[in-house]
Amino acid sequence: MDLNIRSLFGGNNEELSEDEINAEVLLKADHRKVEALFKEYEEGSKQRQSIKEQVIKELTIHAQVEEEIIYPALDKINHEGAGEAKEEHHVVKVLLVELESMPAGSDETKAKMKVLGEIVKHHVKEEEHELFPEMNRSDVDMDALGQKLKARKEELLRQYKPRKQPAKKTTANKGKVVPARKAAATKKTASAAKTNKPKTRSRKVVARKRAS
Ligand SMILES: [Fe+2]
Ligand SMILES: [Fe+2]
Repeated sequence: MDLNIRSLFGGNNEELSEDEINAEVLLKADHRKVEALFKEYEEGSKQRQSIKEQVIKELTIHAQVEEEIIYPALDKINHEGAGEAKEEHHVVKVLLVELESMPAGSDETKAKMKVLGEIVKHHVKEEEHELFPEMNRSDVDMDALGQKLKARKEELLRQYKPRKQPAKKTTANKGKVVPARKAAATKKTASAAKTNKPKTRSRKVVARKRAS
């Protein structure tokens, strides 16, 4: 699946005339595309690495355009679901960052992709069944937002670069044997610190002082 504007906006949407572009139509097309990617991954595609990278790219850009263009409009109409949607985006982005450095076919990655897919499914359902209808009922101009959204998405796609993979942790000190003498010294210091209570003056000293 290559990433061009046609595929990103649901196949034939590139052929939509300017006045047919609508925020809800564009976002729903993104949702369907991501769902298809999750399904392909779960079905055991051999292209898991490529699918994982596409999921990261799609969701990163989709979340950004929604946060820049859609959610501020939701805030304006005071939709109570906007706060929850933003928190879900946050969780999704944390998982995306973690997934970037994970091998595509490992059990951990499969588990994380599954959890991510479930969160996205729940989130998409709320957007499509609650948030978008509420926007349509309000005086928000979904066509104008669609134009903005399309332009911003094209810009983000041109700029998109996958984050660099984090450097592998060094194993130089892992399992290093501590010399016995050093270990003993450390132990001694620790136990000394433990028993190093403030000294009390002996009875003899106290008695001598009283006598003088
Ligand atoms: Fe969203
Ligand atoms: Fe969305």
